Amino acid sequence: MIVCKSPREVEKLRVSGRMVRELLEDLKLRVQPGVTTWDLETYVQKRVKELGVKPAFKGYRGYPCCLCASVNDEIVHGIPSKRALKEGDIVSLDLGVVVDSYYGDSAVTVPVGDISDELKRLLRITEESLRMGIERVRMGNRLGDVSAAIQRYVENAGFSVVREFVGHGIGRELHEEPPVPNFGEPGRGPALKEGMVLAIEPMVNEKGSGARVLKDHWTAVTEDGGRSAHFEHMVAVTRNGPDVLSQL
Ligand code: MF3
Ligand code: CO
Repeated sequence: MIVCKSPREVEKLRVSGRMVRELLEDLKLRVQPGVTTWDLETYVQKRVKELGVKPAFKGYRGYPCCLCASVNDEIVHGIPSKRALKEGDIVSLDLGVVVDSYYGDSAVTVPVGDISDELKRLLRITEESLRMGIERVRMGNRLGDVSAAIQRYVENAGFSVVREFVGHGIGRELHEEPPVPNFGEPGRGPALKEGMVLAIEPMVNEKGSGARVLKDHWTAVTEDGGRSAHFEHMVAVTRNGPDVLSQL
């Protein structure tokens, strides 16, 4: 069942979404060569304690950390470690918090120092594909319109969308109905109704779309070793079009 939120609930989700985004902005400033993803995790642990909020991912199906930090060919669910980031890497930072029973969830991919033009393009196209999806979050549209817009934009740029992981509804739970794939057909899927809140999160691979999960049971990597980027926003369906809740 897809839960439609009241205006009051949408405002609660905006509080959670903005908090995640502020933390991601703080993390972005910390990303540089020599920093480890564990340093970033430590920073998040300290901040959520200070803010008095609950990290959404820690303990979720046994996930061990607050932050997902996925480097280069890692797609999503990278577990923070003592491995240092180096110049030319990209790192996807995915974070969730719970404020007053409402979940916030957002992700960005960040360059480490100077990166190649091809990686810059991967980041730009992925973020822009999210914008293309968001633009179609309108009453009367179908979810397939959102999915298809993302897929079309990514594939026209010569990249591919991951199939194994998808976005989701969000509210009093991290993952609610409906699943939000980054591939699909226009005019298909559930109709978008006022008060639906979607976490849209394109995962875009440089080369093939294939993914596999490492022996740590979490880290998803590309099958062909190509690099991968990930951006995520929470978007509410309103009479006035898309309302991006995880935006500062
Ligand atoms: N943004 C991801 C998601 O919505 C992050 C989940 S990490 C997990 O699925 F640890 F919570 F699974
Ligand atoms: Co998500």
